[in-house]
Amino acid sequence: MTTMRLPELYERVSKIIPHPDWMLFEDDIAAILELKREKNAVILAHNYQTPEIFHGVADIVGDSLALARKAVDVEADVIVLAGVHFMAETAKLLNPEKTVLIPDPGAGCSLADSITPEDIALLRAAHPGVPVVTYVNTSAAVKAVSDICCTSGNAKQVVESLGVDRVLMLPDEYLAQNVARETDVELIAWKGHCEVHELFTPQDVRSMREAYPGVIVLAHPECPPEVVAEADFSGSTAVMSDFVGKQKPARVLLLTECSMSDNVAANHPDVEFVRPCNLCPHMKKISLANIREALETGRHEVTIDPAIAQDARRAVERMLTV
Ligand code: 13P
Ligand code: SF4
Repeated sequence: MTTMRLPELYERVSKIIPHPDWMLFEDDIAAILELKREKNAVILAHNYQTPEIFHGVADIVGDSLALARKAVDVEADVIVLAGVHFMAETAKLLNPEKTVLIPDPGAGCSLADSITPEDIALLRAAHPGVPVVTYVNTSAAVKAVSDICCTSGNAKQVVESLGVDRVLMLPDEYLAQNVARETDVELIAWKGHCEVHELFTPQDVRSMREAYPGVIVLAHPECPPEVVAEADFSGSTAVMSDFVGKQKPARVLLLTECSMSDNVAANHPDVEFVRPCNLCPHMKKISLANIREALETGRHEVTIDPAIAQDARRAVERMLTV
């Protein structure tokens, strides 16, 4: 029988990763840990990364806001972003001198694809003088023509920080509608949707409550507003994770991407996680194999056109001061 090389690490995930699967991951995990030392690299991983990445090799984990905030303090020479392309671009904007790698440059996002700088120019012409708040789930080119960015973790604070009555909040229609219910600021939305969260329905929530009595339902604010209305609580992925840690519900349902429940469950063996979820095909493009390859080969380096980098950085940095 093969001996386990990383028993302490396995201890952390033994509730969610079966032993035979872990044995298949160990070789890549051990190689990645060694490569990180050799290359002076850190791995930033979003909460939707699979548990072997999230618990096995990541140095910094969190929601989009935490990843942006923590990227500022990174001292390593190389950042590997285990997440989607806009996250890697944000890390590069905040670390122009460092090498930022994304293991699969094709890891996109339906929200980022839903809006272009030209769309924003048309919206500005139709709503003169109204400031533009864009979700970080956008390209650097879109950020560059925005006044300020936001994430699902700070959207209400960002909108209210502008001290105006009307704001263009782009591109996530549902996030804008969910925030609109919590603020007096009038929000003009766009028609972008997250292809993962738009699939949840109010009927899903009602069926789960019937099937799992007492279940506490947490919904991500990228879900349609009628789904958030049926939930007990709504917040970014980090806020959901904190809720479980602090409230310790006996049973919980996280209406979000599938790996989120796995990652939170690893830290809370006493909480029962009800598991209907939707996979993000973009987040799932990142694997141990392509993280290892990124570190070995230095591919794929994220670069941002200098003509837009300064303005895009300003929108992200302005968000971080809120
Ligand atoms: P947060 O982790 O910021 O809540 O974002 C969720 C998401 O869908 C990121 O792609
Ligand atoms: Fe984009 Fe939705 Fe995937 Fe997040 S979960 S990367 S918002 S498609």
